[in-house]
Amino acid sequence: MKPLADATYDGQPVGERGRYTNLDIEYIRQRWDLRAERWASDLGDPSCHLNRDNSYSLYLDAMLATLERLPQPIPGGVVDLGCGTGEMLYAVRDRFPWSTGIDISPRMLDLARTRLGTGSMLIEGNVFEADCIPAGCSAIISRGVLLSHYGAENGLTLLKILRGRILDAGILILDALNKEDPDLPHNKTGYGLKELAEMAAMSWFSRVELIAPPTRSSLFVAFAP
Ligand SMILES: C[S@@+](CC[C@H](N)C(=O)[O-])C[C@H]1O[C@@H](n2cnc3c(N)ncnc32)[C@H](O)[C@@H]1O
Repeated sequence: MKPLADATYDGQPVGERGRYTNLDIEYIRQRWDLRAERWASDLGDPSCHLNRDNSYSLYLDAMLATLERLPQPIPGGVVDLGCGTGEMLYAVRDRFPWSTGIDISPRMLDLARTRLGTGSMLIEGNVFEADCIPAGCSAIISRGVLLSHYGAENGLTLLKILRGRILDAGILILDALNKEDPDLPHNKTGYGLKELAEMAAMSWFSRVELIAPPTRSSLFVAFAP
């Protein structure tokens, strides 16, 4: 039998949950740097596990539909947390007066720079450190299940930081792994609407809602101030 330490999920060895929950950012940065070169082609490959349940395009569709609810003209900018190679930011940025992508991986950011040119600000930073996230956002988006990688305690810290960065008529849109998924990797945190609603209340968001029917593996959610 294959030893557990050698098994991987999303390219990362299982058993490294502690690296995320302990915010071992240097280690995490190196792992994502190594994945950067193949990221865009993996996303474009329908058979790649990243596209399980068609989650990439489902998130994109749900996000675009939800952004329609923002007041017009949109007063604040958009920030993409863990922007990777910049695809999501590219899809939404023209609606906003300014756009910023944040990522810990310099290699991901190099590729995002090629994709986005000079039209978006790109910041190398750890989103769990409040200083790197600009204030005055009409939308904060994030695709890549950060709450599931880093766990509920760090997730709550992040939500509290983000609440302080979003305008009162703004919106936070993110994804999370579904706790009902029988294949939920044991080193990741799954959520249901109840857990997310509790976290929203503790971080002074007044509302959280599913913005698409849950898939087996993922939930797509919007938090409103
Ligand atoms: C699953 S990938 C998603 C990339 C992109 N959002 C997409 O949908 O293609 C997660 C991204 O989050 C970044 N990331 C992970 N932890 C982070 C942190 N603490 N702060 C900033 N970025 C982080 C990684 O470098 C990686 O680019």
